[in-house]
Amino acid sequence: MSITKRWRTSPATMRRRSMIRFHTPGAACYPGAVAPLLEVRGLRYAYGERLAVRSAALQVERGEVFGLLGPNGAGKTTLLSCVAGLLGRFGGELLFAGAPFRPAADDGQRALVGLVPQELALYEELDARENLALFAALQGVPRERVGLAIDAALQLAGLAERARDRVKTYSGGMKRRLNLAIGDLHEPPLLLLDEPTVGVDPQSRNHVFECLGQLQQKGRTVIYTTHYMEEAQRLCDRVAVMHEGTVLAAGTAAELAERAGVPGADLETVFLRLTGKALRDEP
Ligand SMILES: Nc1ncnc2c1ncn2[C@@H]1O[C@H](COP(=O)(O)OP(=O)(O)O)[C@@H](O)[C@H]1O
Ligand SMILES: [Mg+2]
Repeated sequence: MSITKRWRTSPATMRRRSMIRFHTPGAACYPGAVAPLLEVRGLRYAYGERLAVRSAALQVERGEVFGLLGPNGAGKTTLLSCVAGLLGRFGGELLFAGAPFRPAADDGQRALVGLVPQELALYEELDARENLALFAALQGVPRERVGLAIDAALQLAGLAERARDRVKTYSGGMKRRLNLAIGDLHEPPLLLLDEPTVGVDPQSRNHVFECLGQLQQKGRTVIYTTHYMEEAQRLCDRVAVMHEGTVLAAGTAAELAERAGVPGADLETVFLRLTGKALRDEP
């Protein structure tokens, strides 16, 4: 498949839209020690006539891996796009550490978030190091930190040995890992992973899971969207179940099972209870 067919929007544009400036973690430009890192209140977004997100609400605490679960079309990507600043004209309110958050209108705010898009956004003709250097420049990583940031990204992706090989020679899993590491290059406190394991072989899936552990050690807060319930059960501290544009319930897997009247049940069963639909039946 040619590059132009593969990406209607170029990888560089996709990245540039998602994150602009380097943010130094710890140089807190956000107040509020007790407020959740991210709060979504009554979020609403329509593509023309089509209402994709309606009255969605959730809270993400600092340092957690928060699972955003739901079938295709539930509105997960749309919600993430609002948080990442790709979509600006939403209804409702976003708060970052308790302060109003309009990332589409503010480059500084946008830099607080890293987005790892569902579709791979990589230059296949370049090697991993060249991709990382390019995106580091686009994301405004200061020149003196680029070398370290690239080394850290290669380590996170487990690609240090293959750093000089062209991306087109990589397996699907390796590309996914590089995609993920690019999203984290500018060290955002909040990282959004949009279905990072779709189409990935089991071994690379495990590597993505290990990346999550490393990201948590680095102090990142992660929102992880998936429609694989067992993955969420294993990886996430808390989850929100999204369905037809709304968040039906949020909490730990055990809390959700309790609330859905099926204590001790797995998330798949909880989802079925909450929506009346089997997740696998969705398109
Ligand atoms: N660019 C778009 N234009 C029109 N409709 C869209 C667009 N993107 C998504 N949608 C619609 O919005 C709804 C939510 O989609 P999306 O946020 O991609 O859900 P998910 O990520 O959970 O699969 C779906 O009905 C989808 O068809
Ligand atoms: Mg999606």
